[in-house]
Amino acid sequence: MDIILLGPPGAGKGTQAGRLVAERGMVQLSTGDMLRAAVKAGTPTGLAAKAVMEAGQLVSDEIVSGIIGERLDELGPEPGLIFDGYPRTAAQAASLDELLAARGRKLDYVIELMVDEDALVERITGRFTCAKCGEGYHDVFKLPAVVGICDVCGSTEFKRRPDDNAETVRTRMAEYRAKTAPILPHYEAQGLVRRIDGMADIAHVTAAIEDILGKA
Ligand code: AP5
Repeated sequence: MDIILLGPPGAGKGTQAGRLVAERGMVQLSTGDMLRAAVKAGTPTGLAAKAVMEAGQLVSDEIVSGIIGERLDELGPEPGLIFDGYPRTAAQAASLDELLAARGRKLDYVIELMVDEDALVERITGRFTCAKCGEGYHDVFKLPAVVGICDVCGSTEFKRRPDDNAETVRTRMAEYRAKTAPILPHYEAQGLVRRIDGMADIAHVTAAIEDILGKA
């Protein structure tokens, strides 16, 4: 089963994708994670993407569809895929259709996480992760049990994304409204869109997604 998780920055796409990977053995394809890895490694893609990401704008369609195509080539046909943060433009949606068709795959669902944008700024600006194992935390919603020590690996080092400040978040949301939300009709025309309440707590959002996937 191949799905897209769609929603604005902070809607919970990465959180829910991680839970589906753990519970269903699906594979998460996050273009944000891939681009951050490229920036960290200092690859040509990373060098091209760094300033664009830090400004909260979208990296070029050619770059992101290129890295998705490369990743699909590395995967076998067996696992279900979760597209997290891709596609984000009409051109990317067209590329994904082609990339999947060329591999004999098709989308089963496009799950839109419906959220209140004002709440998202708080979600994103409070977010931080363990620098060693990547476990996610939040200043208000999810602090480590012992403040300053990662619950999972015991590390005392944490990091925040450079694009997780209030000003950049507003730009990212404007990009979502202008370029990503308009791709929904492409999927609505195919009967693929399912909408769920992304403001419910994390476990309830997972249960709502499972309810949709369970019917497949
Ligand atoms: P990307 O990494 O994809 O960021 P994003 O879409 O802005 O999404 P986020 O990762 O911020 O949020 P999320 O929806 O995954 O929420 P999360 O689960 O973390 O992209 C970053 C940049 O890369 C882009 O701006 C662009 O420059 C570039 N890029 C990436 N893909 C691209 C593409 N296809 N084309 C062009 N450019 C691209 O949750 C957020 C917080 O909320 C966490 O703290 C979490 O614990 C908490 N939380 C989650 N769910 C809940 C809940 N239900 N209740 C309470 N708290 C919750």
